[in-house]
Amino acid sequence: MERGRIGFVEASGQDRAPDILVFMSYLFVGNWKMNPGSGKEAQKLWKEVVSRTKKTKSTIVMCPSFPHIALVKPSKKILLGAQNASKEIEGAYTGQASLSMLKDLRVSYVIVGHSEVRALGETDEVVSKKVRAVLKKGMTPIVCVGETLRDSQGVFFTTLKNQIENSLFGVTKEQIKKVVIAYEPLWAIGTGGIPATPHDVHEVAIFIRKVIGDLYGRTLGDSVRMLYGGSVDKDNARAFLDEGMAQGLLVGRASLNGKTFSALIDACSKK
Ligand code: PGA
Repeated sequence: MERGRIGFVEASGQDRAPDILVFMSYLFVGNWKMNPGSGKEAQKLWKEVVSRTKKTKSTIVMCPSFPHIALVKPSKKILLGAQNASKEIEGAYTGQASLSMLKDLRVSYVIVGHSEVRALGETDEVVSKKVRAVLKKGMTPIVCVGETLRDSQGVFFTTLKNQIENSLFGVTKEQIKKVVIAYEPLWAIGTGGIPATPHDVHEVAIFIRKVIGDLYGRTLGDSVRMLYGGSVDKDNARAFLDEGMAQGLLVGRASLNGKTFSALIDACSKK
């Protein structure tokens, strides 16, 4: 099978749905958070990734901060994402950006429910409203879920299940096909974070597909796109896809350097 593509072709056991064949290129999302410090640097970073990833077959989405979104030029290959958006259409919402504003600037992906936003008080209910609003606008939500701590009894699976079910509340069967789920355990994110192991990611990938399968049917559960995020770098990236069975990565710090981010993408595509 071609590298950079995932196929679910072996799923023909008796307790499985009939053979499912889903081909998708990997999705690499760069979450720049509140970086870099100037528009000039943001443009430089964007252009560097564009020029270094010309040959990749993967889809790349970069998510600059709001002030920098208007300064970069997305293309068919390098798409523009936002790190958040308002669930409201317009009006008196100081400090927020609407989906219409973002769409007008060619944003096509929106990260929803990132743990750093949830930490400021965003609930699953708000996340679900945002997810539905993003879908209604014809954009793609990247819905972040992840446990704070991993306990040996596996209680974190219940946390994840609740987060997924509540964050997807009201999302239809038709809409779920467009949703991207990002598994981002909090203990793995940011400076001092310890990356999950590919085995952890594989386990959760199976679990997430099962939870979605229970909600929407096994076929849709098996084909939902799941990303892993949390201290991904160019050296550990590939294992999350190969062994972890993620279909893409949500990258923070390692996406802030054009050379590093491109090398990471490259490392995942080599035979
Ligand atoms: P990190 O961030 O790669 O710097 O850990 C990931 C994220 O928070 O999306």
